[in-house]
Parts: sequence; structure tokens; C-alpha cells
Amino acid sequence: MELKDQIELSKLPKHIAIIMDGNGRWAKKQGYFRSFGHENGTKAVRDIVEACAELPVPYLTLFAFSTENWNRPKIEVNTLMKLLVSSLKKEIKTLQENNIKLNAIGDLEALPKKAYDELEDVLEKTKNNSRMTLTLALSYGSREEITKTIKEISLKVKNNLISPQDIDESVINNHLYTRDLPDVDLLIRTSGEQRISNFLLWQIAYAELYFTEILWPDYRKKDLFEAILNYQNRERRFGKTSEQLNS
Ligand code: IPE
Ligand code: IPE
Ligand code: MG
Repeated sequence: MELKDQIELSKLPKHIAIIMDGNGRWAKKQGYFRSFGHENGTKAVRDIVEACAELPVPYLTLFAFSTENWNRPKIEVNTLMKLLVSSLKKEIKTLQENNIKLNAIGDLEALPKKAYDELEDVLEKTKNNSRMTLTLALSYGSREEITKTIKEISLKVKNNLISPQDIDESVINNHLYTRDLPDVDLLIRTSGEQRISNFLLWQIAYAELYFTEILWPDYRKKDLFEAILNYQNRERRFGKTSEQLNS
């Protein structure tokens, strides 16, 4: 039986988040510049978005550029920003045809104007699409997000719009960039690194973590199906006992 057919559709993760890592190493291994790896990473993006839309997994969030990635050499940052613009231009049609809504999280105003404008355009054009929400984390860092959230809530407290005893988890949730997304069910990181790198710290509180050695430009549908099958064989207890869940 094919991998895809082994997936239980009633137990699909609702929200998959992916740390797309290993582009640089993929290129270097073959004697190319790192940018070649980034370019080829877009093929994996297309394949994985398509796989999620087909299953369907209604929420897919991709870590494309972190707040820390601004510290890379300027030339690499420029390449990544240009690639963002060209990918947005190229993929808008596919997003529309497949009824996919694009969403973005992160400190978007830090993006170069051209990238910001192109992004805003695609966000606006796809905002009523409903089959799936594809979220790009761009200039995203979880600590930046949480800091911003605390500032916003503090200001509301100061202006008597909310009182401190009313601050609960849902209030915090509603101030995060991810306010419209459900919690992450499955977090995947490619390239063998086993760390979170400041991605969705709050939102992955109870996510299942899955690490694979595959470098991002090589990641394909079958690899995603394998991750989902692995996820479906886990028991998510959320603090309860196995007996409680099975009674
Ligand atoms: C992930 O690949 C893409 C971004 C972080 C933008 P890397 O560029 O981190 O590739 P490696 O980890 O150096 O191989
Ligand atoms: C994390 O990858 C960020 C993205 C995938 C966009 P990095 O390659 O930047 O992470 P570290 O620095 O190795 O942890
Ligand atoms: Mg990396």
C-alpha cells in the first residue's frame, strides 16, 4: 500500500509547522553557492503545500526567515528577499487556483519595501480563500512576538481596557501573530538539527516533534506522509494517563 493510503484521514494533524532547514548544506555538498540551495528549496515548498492541500491539512506554517537570519551576510539576505518576491509573483496563480489563503507572521515591517508590498498584495488577493491557510513566518522570532504581545497587553492595562486578573491564556493567544491559527499539532525540522531556533515557542507547547536528516531541497510529499504516519502512531496524552484516554 502506498504511504499516502496508510494515512488515517480522521486523525490528520490540523496544523503542521515546518522549520525548512538545510538549503545551504544541500548546495555546498554539490559544490554550489548557498543561494542555489535556497532556489531549490522553493520546489520542496511547492510539493509540500500541494500535499497538505490534497490531504487536507488545513493549516501549514513554514519558517522561511527568522529574526536571527538578518545577521547572515548581506548578499545572502538579499538573495532570500529577492527569492521571496519572485516566488510570490510566481505562485499567486497556483494559490488562487487551489483556493489557498496566504498568511504571514513576523515583524513584516522589517522586510524590504518591495518584498513587503508584494506580500501585502498576495495576502489581500487570497484573503477569502478557504481550502487551506498557508502561513509564512518571515522575519519571525518567537521572543520578538512574545515581547510585542506583552507590550500590547501592558498598554491595554495602563489604559484600563483590561485588568491584570483578566489576563489568561486566551488573551495572550489573541495578541500573538498566530491569533487566527490553532495550536501546532506536528512540528517538523529537516536537516538533522534538533532545535527550535526561536520558532513558535508558545504555540508548540503540546506539538509532536519530528526531526529528519533530509535536507530541505530534497524534502518531498512521501517524506511528509512518513512524518504524518509517525505522528499518527503516537499517543497524545495532554497530561492524562493512557488509561484515561482509552476508557
Ligand atoms: C534554511 O536553510 C533556510 C533559511 C534559514 C533561510 P539554511 O540556509 O539554514 O541552510 P543550512 O542550515 O546552512 O544548511
Ligand atoms: C531556522 O534555521 C530558521 C529558518 C528555517 C528560516 P537556521 O538555519 O537559521 O537555524 P539555526 O541558526 O541553525 O538554529
Ligand atoms: Mg540552517
